[in-house]
Amino acid sequence: MTDIRLAGTPAEVLLAYAVRIEVFVDEQGVPRDLEIDELDDSADHFVAYDDAGVPVGAARLVVEPAGFEGAPSSTAPVGHLGRLAVLEPARGTGLGVQLVQAIERRAASQGLDLIALSAQTQALGFYQRLGYVAHGPEFDDAGLPHRWMTRPL
Ligand SMILES: CC(C)(COP(=O)(O)OP(=O)(O)OC[C@H]1O[C@@H](n2cnc3c(N)ncnc32)[C@H](O)[C@@H]1OP(=O)(O)O)[C@@H](O)C(=O)NCCC(=O)NCCS
Repeated sequence: MTDIRLAGTPAEVLLAYAVRIEVFVDEQGVPRDLEIDELDDSADHFVAYDDAGVPVGAARLVVEPAGFEGAPSSTAPVGHLGRLAVLEPARGTGLGVQLVQAIERRAASQGLDLIALSAQTQALGFYQRLGYVAHGPEFDDAGLPHRWMTRPL
């Protein structure tokens, strides 16, 4: 059974980073120095563990100020979902959806009423199925095409 937990120690945050590096740096070619960024210090990190307790997924939540670029018309702070990654062998089993839902629950518990995310265009369909709507033009981030998406909670 999969277990999704909020990282509560620096060591657990490193487990999230290890998943992200395997997916974004090793698999997708994102430069390593861009992958771990200044938002990581203030983020809530979630780690998904498989039934052997091995980390196989990660995602983070950053609270952004009203009007931030992913939701320019927002008038209240916004939950910024990011760095969603599931290791290739664990994909297709619902973990990605569970990680998004864990972030949404966390954001709602903090009084946030909107989630924004910067979606790789290849993942737009994944988020659309979860109710996210794309807006604004395509843009480059770390060499990959992206669009902003939002969903009210
Ligand atoms: C995108 C990602 C997180 C999805 O994780 P996952 O655990 O495989 O997703 P789930 O098993 O929860 O998938 C739920 C549904 O979405 C679909 N789906 C998964 N990835 C998709 C994609 N890129 N585009 C469209 N649909 C997708 C699945 O087929 C599944 O459909 P089903 O319910 O009909 O079987 C994972 O593929 C991944 O880590 N990819 C590489 C990193 C990445 O692209 N991250 C997102 C950056 S914005």
